[in-house]
Amino acid sequence: MSVPITNTVYVLNGPNLNLLGTREPDIYGSETLDDIAGMLEDFAREHDLAIDMRQTNHEGMLVDWLHEAQAEGARAVLLNAAAYTHTSIALLDAIKAIRTPVIEVHLSDPKTREEFRHRSYVGMAAAKTVEGHGAKSYLIALEAVASGEI
Ligand code: DQA
Repeated sequence: MSVPITNTVYVLNGPNLNLLGTREPDIYGSETLDDIAGMLEDFAREHDLAIDMRQTNHEGMLVDWLHEAQAEGARAVLLNAAAYTHTSIALLDAIKAIRTPVIEVHLSDPKTREEFRHRSYVGMAAAKTVEGHGAKSYLIALEAVASGEI
């Protein structure tokens, strides 16, 4: 059963990202998740999009939200799965299971960090990956939705 596609973009954030701003700022920057939400909302308003920004420390919650994104007709999902990026076959399967396009987002560039961050299960199914631009990674991903690239 297909639902009408809305203008809402889900922005899903995984574990430890609630601590952005104080968490390893040399790697992740000093902007908080609320700062990022504000930046995305400003952009969305000008491009006839809406943002639904969420954060959880629980893997299964991200799976549930990906299913919900499709059920609610989300335009796209920006997903920073944080550490689950590198471990979660459940997230890979969830992205493959839905038709909603998913853009993988990272503040840092995991490919230039420890080897255990080089594998991305999310990236194996994502429509696009934006990484290494700090908070701006989210904006670049949202621009790809607004421009129709994704
Ligand atoms: C991250 C990169 C991941 O490797 C790490 O586990 C995170 C944040 C990023 O946004 O740079 O928690 O996803």
